[in-house]
Amino acid sequence: MKIQSLSYLLIETTDLQEWADYAKDVVGFMKNDSLSDEQNLFLRMDEKSFRFHIKTGSSKKYLAAGFSLSDKAAFDNAKSELDKAKVDYEDLGHEIAKLRCVEECIGLHDPAGNRLELSYGSKDASEPFASTQDIKGFITKGLGFGHVVFAAPNLELAHRFYIDILGFGDSDYMNFPMGPAPDAPEVKLNFMHCDNPRHHTVALYESPIPPSGLIHTMVEVNNIDEVGHGLDRAMQNNVHISSSLGRHSNDMMVSFYMQTPSGFDLEFGYDGWQVDWDNFEMQKSKIPSFWGHAFSPPES
Ligand SMILES: [Fe+2]
Repeated sequence: MKIQSLSYLLIETTDLQEWADYAKDVVGFMKNDSLSDEQNLFLRMDEKSFRFHIKTGSSKKYLAAGFSLSDKAAFDNAKSELDKAKVDYEDLGHEIAKLRCVEECIGLHDPAGNRLELSYGSKDASEPFASTQDIKGFITKGLGFGHVVFAAPNLELAHRFYIDILGFGDSDYMNFPMGPAPDAPEVKLNFMHCDNPRHHTVALYESPIPPSGLIHTMVEVNNIDEVGHGLDRAMQNNVHISSSLGRHSNDMMVSFYMQTPSGFDLEFGYDGWQVDWDNFEMQKSKIPSFWGHAFSPPES
């Protein structure tokens, strides 16, 4: 199947106002007032009706990532490929499709248990996009909203699912020792692209699933100043900075990481590599970053 892009993220929180403040004062997302209500916050990054849907629930966690296919034919073809591969999925029905602002959608899990949705026909909002901060726009055109990094206790099994079933392509296999000790355990990640130039849309990190359900998600802005202003806003609003500024070695992204109100990180960057896949050879990275990206998890 041919997945076009990462189209939306579904998130649960116990405190919707905390997310509303974070989205407006730190990230620069725009609230979709006509879709949002007291239990649901729909956030925009571009012309689409929403990219992040946060709903009130009993915990703070990732719920699902939505991926889009080009049209009904591609969607029906994806379903028959899942049938052939004997992968369980559920038709989410008309009401959920309406809520997601798409024509039709299905839900499924990867072998690690990460929840995914596939859909087509995502709708644009009626109003133009304007960031709540001094951001020209997020880099999403033809690329999806960003990327997600999932945990996978069995990396090989999950990797095969994305390549063999969902039709992703390999961008990079990264491994490096977790510390300076000679017997330090290896960190292992698979980075994969779908049918657009973004270097990776999904990455898998060999680890148990974290309590928040997601390692991180990424959004991209236009230039270093918009990244720097984002870092200032995070610090001014006492958001935990999970990683210092740095440049990644595989997608070249210059970014910092901060914690979201749902416990996983948001990578906020610019200058991500848009790859010509016809002239690309899969990378094998031994370092995550050329400089920076010093990680400091929050004290628990
Ligand atoms: Fe990332």
